[in-house]
Amino acid sequence: MTYECILTAVHGDGPRKTALITLNRPKALNALNDQLMDELGQALLAFDADDGIGCIVLTGSERAFAAGADIPTMLPHTFATAFKSGLISKNWETILQVRKPVIAAVAGFALGGGCELAMMCDFIIAADTAKFGQPEIKLGIVPGAGGTQRLPRAVGKSKAMDLLLTARMMAAAEAESAGLVSRVVPADKLLEEALAAAEAINGFSAPSVMLIKELVNLAYQAPLSEGVGVERRYFHALFGSHDQREGMEAFLAKRAPNFEHR
Ligand code: CAA
Repeated sequence: MTYECILTAVHGDGPRKTALITLNRPKALNALNDQLMDELGQALLAFDADDGIGCIVLTGSERAFAAGADIPTMLPHTFATAFKSGLISKNWETILQVRKPVIAAVAGFALGGGCELAMMCDFIIAADTAKFGQPEIKLGIVPGAGGTQRLPRAVGKSKAMDLLLTARMMAAAEAESAGLVSRVVPADKLLEEALAAAEAINGFSAPSVMLIKELVNLAYQAPLSEGVGVERRYFHALFGSHDQREGMEAFLAKRAPNFEHR
């Protein structure tokens, strides 16, 4: 498959490898237009279906992860054309169908749809140059890809309101202390750190990895008692797996586990 707005590569030498997807519209600071979002969706689904891939890392450039949805192509829309064409709805949420972990590696601007796309990933590793924000209010609109919903869940109501209503940008250190990003690393180590995190995940039993992703996401949808109940069923179910026996026997034998489903 050839893409024009993204680059794809595969990293690692273990049985399960890491797919790297790089957003690549540098002149527009990786503004997210339909072509890019279509290509991103296709690449994500193809890697998700590839049994040789364990994790996906999504990144941008040093200057911008993505500066938001593409403003020139949004400008002419009316309510009717936006609604009828499924603006955002039709191609932004493919990422939510992916069952393998998707790590966002963010340097530079992650604004508007760029911040929203990063928040749809499973976790965000930020370079110390990263800047997050939801500046849609400056354009006379509101966020359209989940910014008003996922940002408060990540950073709490007060900071989310502050960011959304003032349109100010939040630097990497503030994003880390607010809980939006899992860690901040020097910009020149961003990809190395994200790929190392993916490599560590690839070494674990794939059903454990995929179930943990599913369960953490359930925490955002279900009441606590239901989430804990589903977790307990999966916990019990994994005692039927080879990898549970192998993981526990390896621990007691003080050796590395040899998981069947790596
Ligand atoms: N869409 C299209 N093009 C964009 C863009 C966007 N969201 N953001 C930046 N660009 C383009 C600029 O137009 C410029 O192109 P030209 O060189 O052809 O003029 C180029 O990228 C470089 O940008 P700047 O010259 O503005 O660079 P800067 O360093 O001075 O500023 C910036 C960088 C602060 C990110 C600024 O570009 C900016 O504020 N961008 C818009 C951010 C924004 O409003 N994002 C929200 C979009 S709406 C949205 O995302 C809706 C949603 O919820 C889905």
